[in-house]
Amino acid sequence: MCGIVGYIGTQAATDILLAGLEKLEYRGYDSAGIATIWEGEVNCVRAKGKLHNLRSKLEQIESPAQIGIGHTRWATHGKPEEYNAHPHLDTAKRVAVVQNGIIENYRELREELKGKGHQFLSETDTEVIPHLIAEFLKNLSPSSSSSPFLEAIRQAVNHLKGAFAIAVISADFPDELIVVRQQAPLVIGFGQGELFCASDTPAIVAYTRAVLPLENGEIARLTPLGVEIYDFAGDRLKKQPRLLNFNPALVEKQGFKHFMLKEIHEQPGVVRASLDAYFNNFGESSESPINLGLPADLYNNLEQIQIVACGTSWHAALIGKYLIEQLAGISTQVHYASEYRYAPSPVTANTLIIGVTQSGETADTLAALAMEKERRQGKEPQYQGQLLGITNRSESSLGDMVPNIISTLAGIEIGVAATKTFTAQLMAFYALALDLAARRQTVSKDTLEKIINGLRQIPKEIEATLETQERLTEQLAHEFAETKDFIFVGRGINFPIALEGALKLKEISYIHAEGYPAGEMKHGPIALLDAKVPVVAIAIPGSVYEKVISNAQEAKARDSRLIGVTPVNDGEAAEIFNDLLPVSDVEELLSPILTVVPLQLLAYHIAARRGLDVDQPRNLAKSVTVE
Ligand code: F6R
Repeated sequence: MCGIVGYIGTQAATDILLAGLEKLEYRGYDSAGIATIWEGEVNCVRAKGKLHNLRSKLEQIESPAQIGIGHTRWATHGKPEEYNAHPHLDTAKRVAVVQNGIIENYRELREELKGKGHQFLSETDTEVIPHLIAEFLKNLSPSSSSSPFLEAIRQAVNHLKGAFAIAVISADFPDELIVVRQQAPLVIGFGQGELFCASDTPAIVAYTRAVLPLENGEIARLTPLGVEIYDFAGDRLKKQPRLLNFNPALVEKQGFKHFMLKEIHEQPGVVRASLDAYFNNFGESSESPINLGLPADLYNNLEQIQIVACGTSWHAALIGKYLIEQLAGISTQVHYASEYRYAPSPVTANTLIIGVTQSGETADTLAALAMEKERRQGKEPQYQGQLLGITNRSESSLGDMVPNIISTLAGIEIGVAATKTFTAQLMAFYALALDLAARRQTVSKDTLEKIINGLRQIPKEIEATLETQERLTEQLAHEFAETKDFIFVGRGINFPIALEGALKLKEISYIHAEGYPAGEMKHGPIALLDAKVPVVAIAIPGSVYEKVISNAQEAKARDSRLIGVTPVNDGEAAEIFNDLLPVSDVEELLSPILTVVPLQLLAYHIAARRGLDVDQPRNLAKSVTVE
């Protein structure tokens, strides 16, 4: 949610900032802007809308600047208009700031600063920061500090409340780029005679792999001489960069029309990587054939699990609940993190709290976990509860907050709609549920072996599904591109897939879609059905196949066109379903990893057919760092 970049070195800053912003556009695309310093002035160029608008504006400007900051915005405070675009400047236009996050006390600060003569031009919370820095700079005597710029920023951030990452430059300090991290991600990159900063590593990997992620409460001063790091009290800290293991192919489309389509096709590889990482060969471990690298005491005396998550991660958590309860027999509750924060479950003994977030930055999930941590502190050991995070970005804020992490192995996901990260989360839940089951001996060794062997077949089954579904979903997209409403139904372990199918469709195609447990349709939603409302039914042989088929019949009787996601292609299926999206015949327990694929493709092709921006759907951002 908002991306920031910064550069100081010997190359043309504008080009590097634009290239960095392009890699961060997934974080927001309501507006973009850059500020550079040349000829003793701050030069700020901003444009409403996507990055190409800013790029067009900058084409007309020849800039020799070698220092600058840039921003791509997801609007929080103030409309997505140019006057609200970052960078923001102080009244004298000497200090420029970009921010990712929220300044909670900006109203008070703004009033205070207005009283001191500062003029504000935007509706944003960020604009108070350059004014505050300018105010502290004004009051600092030049000899009071070796870097008055750093000192003024240090004083300013000590007055800010909220979660934020900022980058600051000033025309009066043209050799300093200062960055601050407080609960929003920020990484520094070390090049040859040049330094970079960014909200996320894809913005800088083209230039360097030597990186230093800042921690909360740290300020870094980047100058031609190197990097100095301080805490908010002004004490110098010693830190070393580390080498990033990063596959640059992940941030390129590699011939696919959209990142989302490429990421859907990467899912067999994600499952293979997860199998390699989480599962040992049988016989290697006496207690469990699963290796998640978690401490043994995380599993001890476990009576309950509470999971907090948002969006697609919440759907993965629902499948996690099913797996944990059915395989390991541990009572598990799944909560929307945004709701849980204000209505938490009572503190219970021997409870594991799991936060699921692919980005590791979702504000609601982090806040729910922080709240759980706090309210369990000081309690007797059995009530303290252990915290576990499941994330695709272990270097994220979640990684900082939670001591135990299961890293999902999707690689970076650029498309705003989650696809391969969902599959990776499912793999983490299969591993966790099976590990718990093995340790508690709630399933036999044979069953365990059968399930793991089944999982090992999944990559090639996804490949087969991808092969057949591309054409079928494209054909259906042709017919349904103008449909106004869609219903997705499933039961049991595939009910969350119905929710996920509906979410994918609404977020990228802007078509209204709802997911329901198939058996619930008759309790109300069935009133929505007629010939104009297609129903996608996930019907997998197993515990609820006949029930789903009956529910599908009920929809058909109301004239709905029925699309079946099923491995069954017998006379009955052919009679009921108007269209089939066939998937391979796998165990019901493993089917969600397959059934989600045609639904992802259907949403993709409908959105592409409608000519929409699949990778950057309106109003959304990849990491939601505001509440
Ligand atoms: C949907 C989607 C969102 C995210 C949600 C949580 O395609 O991507 O619903 O799943 O914003 O994000 P994370 O997992 O980063 O916490």
